[in-house]
Amino acid sequence: MMGFSTALILVVATVNLAINKLSNNFEKYLETPKKSKYKPYIRSIYNWNLQFNAILLTTYHRFINPRPDGLLGEYGGEVDHLIVYPIKSATTGFKMTQWEMTQYGLKYDRIYMFAVYSEKNQRYEGFNMSKAAKLITLKIKSFNGTHFEFEYISKETGSAKTFQLPCEIDFDFIAKHSSFGSVSKPINLWSSNFEGYILDNFLSDDFKSVFELPEDTVLIVSADGKPCSLGVPKKLTGRRTMFQDYYPLLTVSQESYNAVHKDVGTEGNYVRMESFRPNLVLKNVARPFDEEFYLKFDIVGTNTKKTGSYRYHFSTSMKCARCTIPNINPKTGVPDDKSTVSKKMAKYRRTDDGSPYSSIFGVYTVNHDVGITIKQGDKVDILCRASKHLLPKDNPFR
Ligand SMILES: *[C@@H]1O[C@H](CO)[C@@H](O)[C@H](O)[C@H]1NC(C)=O
Ligand SMILES: *[C@@H]1O[C@H](CO)[C@@H](O)[C@H](O)[C@H]1NC(C)=O
Repeated sequence: MMGFSTALILVVATVNLAINKLSNNFEKYLETPKKSKYKPYIRSIYNWNLQFNAILLTTYHRFINPRPDGLLGEYGGEVDHLIVYPIKSATTGFKMTQWEMTQYGLKYDRIYMFAVYSEKNQRYEGFNMSKAAKLITLKIKSFNGTHFEFEYISKETGSAKTFQLPCEIDFDFIAKHSSFGSVSKPINLWSSNFEGYILDNFLSDDFKSVFELPEDTVLIVSADGKPCSLGVPKKLTGRRTMFQDYYPLLTVSQESYNAVHKDVGTEGNYVRMESFRPNLVLKNVARPFDEEFYLKFDIVGTNTKKTGSYRYHFSTSMKCARCTIPNINPKTGVPDDKSTVSKKMAKYRRTDDGSPYSSIFGVYTVNHDVGITIKQGDKVDILCRASKHLLPKDNPFR
């Protein structure tokens, strides 16, 4: 007679095979904006099954049949490039083929922000490109290791003007441009309240007029960022980010971008990868938008012969629900009054019933390791997948 444990293994294996066989159907059902009573249960079953697959696969590659490329899970593409935006909601960023990660995310990402003081809320409130679309045309001219240099065309002179911003907190610089000396002030961004230094006499009238900013706009430098804990693994308690919307990184793939770019046609041809503000851009993922299913992944790379290879841990928190900013033409800073990108994406990118009216593009990501450098060509090792769903209690963007 068949033993109980043999029977159990057979049942588990059959269910596992059946779910895997039907995985496309499951994903089609789960990745829609429709809410249903049964969906949370089906998602749980589907995700348990994915976890089970992950344990089988990584055990197999670890102990039984190691892959020649050293990956433990599934190949999830490779790093194509990294983008840093030293000032939140401005420029098209600074693109690199290798870069360092700190406890805040990519080094020097979103260390500055434009803001205005709210008398009502008694704090500085950051604003984004929905209020100041022109800021996307501010250019990053260079980076010399300690300063970023920015460039814009002056209205006064009609020619290029530049200014530099230090990448690390520089109290001489702050004292020179702040009427508060080195005293930090309260700031708000989304649901986070934190502190920063107010550079209230850094921006010239010319600058504000070129970028159509309110007269009382100030530049803020983050003191020590803000806590980042929702949807972040417990063992990373204490993580902080600077002026990123909330999470350290936004991951997207070239394949997803290509799919959207193709779909928006000539009318939406102005859209660029940077319009979506990603930090970690992958390529060679299995299919467009596949990265949104990565739950845990490692980035695996090799250094010189001496230092050997490295493996760094990452996990994802939530899918990114898009605003209207990708409708801004990054060359001109003028919003498309037909909202072509939003309209096209709404047809097939509403894939999260937790945010049913938003199009999804990319996935917020947390780096577990700090003081690390990742680079172009590093491989992505998917350790576990999941179908994600935004729960209101886990939404930091309220
Ligand atoms: C931009 O700011 C407006 C208010 O000024 C806010 O309603 C909107 O949610 C913000 N969007 C993003 C993506 O920050
Ligand atoms: C970078 O540029 C700034 C501003 O021009 C300058 O003060 C700084 O010394 C430069 N740093 C390096 C490493 O060259």
